Amino acid sequence: MKKDLLSLNDYSEKEILDILELAHKLKKETKEGKEHHILKGKTLGMIFSKSSTRTRVSFEVGMYQLGGYPLFLSSNDIQLGRGECIEDTARVLSRYLDGIMIRTYDQTEVEMLAKYADIPIINGLTDLLHPCQVLADLMTIQEKKGALKGLKMCYIGDGNNMANTLLHGCAKVGMDISVATPAGYECDAEMVAEAMEAAKISGAKIEILTDPKAAIANADAVYSDTWVSMGQEEEKQKRINDFKGFTIDDTLMSYAKGDAIFLHCLPAYRGYEVTNEVIEGPHSVIFDEAENRLHAQKAVMVTLMKD
Ligand code: CP
Ligand code: NVA
Repeated sequence: MKKDLLSLNDYSEKEILDILELAHKLKKETKEGKEHHILKGKTLGMIFSKSSTRTRVSFEVGMYQLGGYPLFLSSNDIQLGRGECIEDTARVLSRYLDGIMIRTYDQTEVEMLAKYADIPIINGLTDLLHPCQVLADLMTIQEKKGALKGLKMCYIGDGNNMANTLLHGCAKVGMDISVATPAGYECDAEMVAEAMEAAKISGAKIEILTDPKAAIANADAVYSDTWVSMGQEEEKQKRINDFKGFTIDDTLMSYAKGDAIFLHCLPAYRGYEVTNEVIEGPHSVIFDEAENRLHAQKAVMVTLMKD
């Protein structure tokens, strides 16, 4: 039976840790100059309905490093963008490709694609979730802190795809997580409920707050993301007003542990969700985190697409 990556909530703690272990191994081997053409002869289709720098480049390079071929498909250029239905697109593309990565708006589009395709589907970001990013984030925390379980993550900002997915990821692996959003910008209630369920098994503690200072207290890892996600451009001014007090600056960072790391999925907007001082400062690990997209996604592709 094929397996997809639509949501980290569909994965057990062990499945997530296995992907991370493979990611560390592939990273080490790549650095040593060792080739690993595990997906030789396979093709990954990459459907993008939204912009991307990291996801596009890291999937393309990752597929190349695995000996396979990545095929970039802008939704504007394929018939999907002119109204061909997702059910037909899924069945047609299944006849040519060995896997599909899709970045789009509605999570149900990704679910429909997975339902009708008989090849693995990888969620490369929806309005609801961004599982590939959180796998890279967890990998980065393991590298910097040597563990996940028992540590505390703090997310400050919009209750968006990143916040929802960090809740899933932390809850699965037993990392405590405190999320602070302004009132009216809370995380998706269903995703919070799923994380709460997962936390019952892993022992993670979840806090949903509106006070950034309370959320960041004693955090080992501090996370922020843009206040204006793709598709929300028209709300920009309103959001900037509503998110006052939610900028991660040196003062706010001083409430975290002294050796806390600062993470950001990127792209970052300095002076809004985070100051230039924090993002360029000693806590920041954002470029290692961005690099780990490559290694974590290679591990995902190997796990889902190898024979
Ligand atoms: N973090 C992330 O997904 O970046 P891109 O939008 O550049 O792919
Ligand atoms: N929340 C952001 C993440 C970008 C990687 C967005 O959806 O635009």
